Order: sequence, then structure tokens, then C-alpha cells
Amino acid sequence: MILVVGGAGYIGSHLVKELVEKEEVVVLDNLSTGHRESVDSRAIFVKGDLGNEEDLDMIFKSYPIKAVMHFAANSLVGESVTDPLKYYENNVAATLTLLKVMTKFKVKNFIFSSTAAAYGIPTVEMIDETTPTAPINPYGHSKLMVEQILADFSKAYGLHYVVLRYFNAAGAHESGVIGESHDPETHLIPIILQQLLGQREKISVFGSDYDTKDGTCIRDYIHVTDLAAAHILALEALLEGKKTAEVYNLGNGLGFSVKEVIETCEKVTGKQANVEMADRRAGDPARLVASSAKIDSELGWKAQRNLEKIIVDAWNWHQNQRY
Ligand SMILES: NC(=O)c1ccc[n+]([C@@H]2O[C@H](COP(=O)([O-])OP(=O)(O)OC[C@H]3O[C@@H](n4cnc5c(N)ncnc54)[C@H](O)[C@@H]3O)[C@@H](O)[C@H]2O)c1
Repeated sequence: MILVVGGAGYIGSHLVKELVEKEEVVVLDNLSTGHRESVDSRAIFVKGDLGNEEDLDMIFKSYPIKAVMHFAANSLVGESVTDPLKYYENNVAATLTLLKVMTKFKVKNFIFSSTAAAYGIPTVEMIDETTPTAPINPYGHSKLMVEQILADFSKAYGLHYVVLRYFNAAGAHESGVIGESHDPETHLIPIILQQLLGQREKISVFGSDYDTKDGTCIRDYIHVTDLAAAHILALEALLEGKKTAEVYNLGNGLGFSVKEVIETCEKVTGKQANVEMADRRAGDPARLVASSAKIDSELGWKAQRNLEKIIVDAWNWHQNQRY
């Protein structure tokens, strides 16, 4: 049985939908940003908190957990700057409680959701796992601290782990049954689609004078179902003992500018966006694009879905959003 912490969230719920086809799954989530309706009915759902040792003890006593996938976190960069306590408490301290209970119950396999924010403002064209980590906000620091804790637990207690550093997760399940629903929404593609549906007045583009082909920022978008597939490969590698301590980037390897994303949304939906050019935001790098060559060569993972497919699936979801 696999424990998915944060499995009622955006990425976690998509992973659970794939994982229930192969494994028994128990989801722990406090529903602070997640949605109970997003959890596949084949998974056992426990409402509880990652930082609560009693909730965790109950789960590890009740179910034969062989691996933990940990998606639960707060992940708003701006909020992490104004309220770092919340980020270090939930993303670091609560994760430490989970790792402590796992150690107590001798559960050895762990997959962790990390982030491109671990790299800060890199100067390279393609970011690979050897690119130096240098977060520029508490959110990025909180994720990198957990990565360090995992490396230390691995050496001291024999924990086996895979860290997955995602770039921009996007898209929705092909069925349209689950998708992205954050409040506030800070991610570009849902913001554009909400504007095209008349749910927002305009889309603000922050900065049009970057040193990029059209002056707007370039990011790497990865379909949430491709992310789910990478988790399953990572899980298999851990359970088969092929990997014991690894860090992988997960991106499409293709950068798209904010303007290109807006144009692709307009093409897919046949609607015209209302766009306003705004000043740059502090701490936004011009370009963030991942090389996922390492996970490709070691686990055979490749992104299968392009930007257009991401937007087609997201559009399908947003038009009939269920939660
Ligand atoms: N969305 C992205 O583009 C992206 C990019 C890089 C990394 N990440 C990381 O991936 C993970 C998942 O992101 P997401 O977009 O699905 O976020 P999300 O907010 O949709 O999901 C997080 C889930 O964790 C739950 N949760 C939070 N704190 C908890 C706690 N203390 N106890 C129990 N449950 C708790 C929430 O209720 C929610 O269901 C996060 O760790 C995030 O930092 C996301």
C-alpha cells in the first residue's frame, strides 16, 4: 500500500488516479488547499495533518505502507516572503514529523515534490541537476531544506528517496473529471482560461522587456499526467531497489514565452484574450527551462504531451469545473 500525502491537491489527485490502477492507495490530506471530490473513489481517504504525529501513527499502524509520496505543501512564492513561518512550519517541520514517523515504522521509500524554485535565478539555457541550487525565496528554501534532510536521513537511517523537481505543472486529466483549482490562482494557464471564460477581467503580463524572443518570460510547462507517470516510474525504481537517493528534474525541455502561451490558448479556444502589459515582478527570471535528460536516460521517462494538449485538457476542465 502507498501513502500519498497531499493526494487531494492538484498534482497529487492526478497521481492517485493513475496509481490506483496498480497499487492500493491511502491519501492523507488536511484539505487546506485540496478538494475531497478530486480523490479517486478507489483510494482510502484520511482527513488529517502531516504535522500531527497521532494522525500519522494511526495510518502506519492501520495500513501496511511500503512507500510514501509527499505532495503536501504551501506553494505560493509571494506568501512565503511575507509569512515564512507558515512555510517553514508546514513544508519543513511537518515533513520532518512525517520522516520521523516513517523511521519509527521502518518505512524506507519516499518520493518528494520539489521545485524549479530550488535553482533561483540560473544563468544557463537548460537547467539540469548539476546546475547550482540557490533559492531566492522561503518557498524555494523550504523545499531545498527537505532535500538536504532526505540526503542526511538516507545516510544515517537508510531511507531510500527520489526528489522530483517540477517546473510548471499544467493541464488536467483527459477525462475532464479532475483538474487544477487553486484559490488564489497564480498559474498562467488557468488564469488565461478563466479570462477567456469571462471569469476575470484581464490577464496581466509582468514584463515585456526581458532578453527573450518576444520580451516576455519563458517557462517550461509539463502536463500533470506526464508528472504522474514520472512518479510511478520513480516508485517502481525505489521498490525494485534500483534507486536509493536521486534527484530528477521534470520538465518538457521546451520553453514557451507568456505571449506564446496566450496565443496557444486563443488558438485552442477560438477566443480573444484581454491582455494588459505590466511591470516586471521582483525575482522573476527571464527563462526557466529544464533538461530532463537524466530521468529519461535512467528511468525512461519523457514528456508525452505538448503545450497544445496541455491547453486542450485544461480548457475541457475549466469549462465544466466541478470543484
Ligand atoms: N503546481 C506546480 O506547478 C508545482 C511546481 C513545482 C512544485 N510543486 C510542488 O508540488 C506539490 C503539489 O503541488 P500542487 O500544485 O498540487 O499543490 P496543491 O496545493 O494543489 O496540493 C497540496 C495538497 O497538500 C495538502 N496539504 C497541505 N498541507 C498539508 C498538511 N499539513 N497536512 C495534510 N495535507 C496538507 C493540501 O490540502 C493540498 O491538497 C507541492 O509540494 C508543490 O510545492 C508544484
